[in-house]
Amino acid sequence: MLKDTFNRNLKDLRISVTDRCNFRCTYCMPAEIFGESYEFLPKEEILSFEEITKLATIFVELGVEKIRITGGEPLMRSNLEQLVLLLNRVHGIQDLTLTTNGYLLEQQAEALKKSGLGRITISLDTLDDELFKTMNGRGFDTKRVLAGIQAAQRSGLSPIKINAVVQKNVNENTIVDLAKHFKGTGIIVRFIEYMDVGNLNAWRLNEVVPASDIFDKINSELPLEPLSQNYAGEVASRYKYRDGSGEIGIISSVSQPFCGACTRARLSTDGRLYTCLFGETGLNLRDPMRDGATSEQLKALITTCWEKRDDKYSEDRTVNSAGQSSNKKIEMYQIGG
Ligand code: GTP
Ligand code: 5AD
Ligand code: SF4
Ligand code: SF4
Repeated sequence: MLKDTFNRNLKDLRISVTDRCNFRCTYCMPAEIFGESYEFLPKEEILSFEEITKLATIFVELGVEKIRITGGEPLMRSNLEQLVLLLNRVHGIQDLTLTTNGYLLEQQAEALKKSGLGRITISLDTLDDELFKTMNGRGFDTKRVLAGIQAAQRSGLSPIKINAVVQKNVNENTIVDLAKHFKGTGIIVRFIEYMDVGNLNAWRLNEVVPASDIFDKINSELPLEPLSQNYAGEVASRYKYRDGSGEIGIISSVSQPFCGACTRARLSTDGRLYTCLFGETGLNLRDPMRDGATSEQLKALITTCWEKRDDKYSEDRTVNSAGQSSNKKIEMYQIGG
């Protein structure tokens, strides 16, 4: 088992399959910056499905048990179900999942399930159509996302989780409605503290609604009680409704960071290994692989990188440092959260 300098294992791999997205969420890809002429990665820079599978296999040999496909928006990558099929054949993956904005999910849910995707997480920040239109930067209402969620349910991609980023004075007053909508459906809504990922969203600490406030808001209308973790290092704190009608999660990466148990590695669309969501430089695995490095040589590169790992950005973040660090952090759309 690989260990980093804080004795953390390598157990999860998040793979970004495209830097493109059909949304322009204000906190991730502001439309003013990502306009029509914005140049995303050219095809030759992007890992092929075979290259992703080759690297994923090596990561699994090094201890990874859980793989999450991310983007940008992963369903924008053509024939994604073929990648799922390839990854599904890698021995040793216990959890194969994907995070999507849901817009293209209705057409793809069945094929993804058939190819071996286990479960799915769908981002949906609010059910208020007007607000959703503003937040996704593209004027899309919630209809297609809700249809995508239903298709995922029909296809048996379970448990389904919903990710909602909570921003002060933006959607904080709609979170109870979101909880109510999915209460009793088996779908787990997770409320995420707004984070200072990347450099483009002009993040400010006073835009964060702390986990304790999120809890209070929901608990005052829909009484909650804590649940134990599903697994060590789980990102969300779990709560169940006291009336037995399901559970929610709260992800407190700003107010109560969880770096101590962080076992996550991230592979960017162009094949760089990042050992933190807030990383600045990634280890280029693509070029050595394309230059003919053997699996053993690639394994050695990853091993050295993980053994040197000392990331704990969220724990080190202070009121003063947040939002104004080096301006060179990787962006959410390049690394998939
Ligand atoms: P499960 O596998 O269902 O437990 O979900 P997960 O928490 O692994 O995955 P998901 O991608 O849904 O994570 C939800 C959100 O939590 C992400 O989109 C991020 O915003 C945040 N998050 C996940 N991992 C990390 C992390 O390592 N560091 C920080 N700071 N935030 C993270
Ligand atoms: N803070 C918290 N969560 C974010 N996400 C994107 N940007 C941020 C941010 N700045 C969420 C998305 C999606 C997941 C990949 O990360 O909404 O659910
Ligand atoms: Fe929004 Fe996700 Fe697309 Fe970023 S990658 S713009 S968070 S849908
Ligand atoms: Fe892991 Fe970095 Fe997130 Fe801390 S800030 S939990 S080290 S990804």
